[in-house]
Amino acid sequence: MSGLQTHYSARGIEARILAGIRAAGLNPEQRLSPEELGALDHFHTGGLRASRELLEVTQIRADDRVLDIGAGLAGSARLLASSVGCRVDCIEMSPDYCVGAVLLNRLTGLEDRIKVHEGSALELPFADDSFDVVWMQNVGMNIADKRTLYEEISRVLKPGGRYAFQEMTAGNVATSYFPLPWASEPADNFLVSAEEMQSLLGECGLIAELFEDTSDAHLSRTTANATPAAAGQLGLAVFVDNLAQKAANARRSLEEGQVRLVRGVFRVD
Ligand SMILES: C[S@@+](CC[C@H](N)C(=O)[O-])C[C@H]1O[C@@H](n2cnc3c(N)ncnc32)[C@H](O)[C@@H]1O
Repeated sequence: MSGLQTHYSARGIEARILAGIRAAGLNPEQRLSPEELGALDHFHTGGLRASRELLEVTQIRADDRVLDIGAGLAGSARLLASSVGCRVDCIEMSPDYCVGAVLLNRLTGLEDRIKVHEGSALELPFADDSFDVVWMQNVGMNIADKRTLYEEISRVLKPGGRYAFQEMTAGNVATSYFPLPWASEPADNFLVSAEEMQSLLGECGLIAELFEDTSDAHLSRTTANATPAAAGQLGLAVFVDNLAQKAANARRSLEEGQVRLVRGVFRVD
């Protein structure tokens, strides 16, 4: 996890979030909707659109108990809780992001349905068979020990439970453009190929219901300079340093096949 704090600058996050919300013309004294915050708190490739698509293929129900691993500011947790009505636990290693997530849960009136836990994906503080769905977006790229990660996911899922995710995987060519959103330098880059990922998931008891490469679809629906928000608009730049360069490097890496974007829904027996 070396250097994570330098990838994700989160100092004074509460103040930065509130300033960003006000600069975008929103009033944090009034109830905000998860959609209004969507450009700020979906910290992964494809943003809010990708979260909605993952929700569509996962088909979560109101009585499902969901765990969002590496939840960041919990934008996806709020999407799930508000649109489906389910309860969501978030596990996030950054104390600052936990503070930001709790703040945004309160501003959207969703604090009763979403619990934020500070902790590690590699040592989940939950009993076996606790969740119907484990949800994870753009987190495994930061985690070298994928076997422990997948064993933990498998352990906390109820029999028949599902793991829904999107991730970057390694492409056919070595990654060469840094900094990337998930790695300042090559030593922080923990991508495996899609084949390795599926095989490791299988060894941990997780079987594919859906596993697809969405790289080309993502590239065709976005443009090279689409990510950074203009001044006065909400965007990830409120809490991510050097966003434009990282986003440009990620796009170039995708275009040149150095990385691939995948989405999956896997089930435990
Ligand atoms: C790119 S952000 C994605 C945040 C969120 N999933 C989203 O899509 O908006 C990656 C997140 O994973 C968290 N993270 C990385 N490694 C983790 C670990 N071992 N345990 C818990 N959280 C972790 C980081 O702190 C960061 O918030």
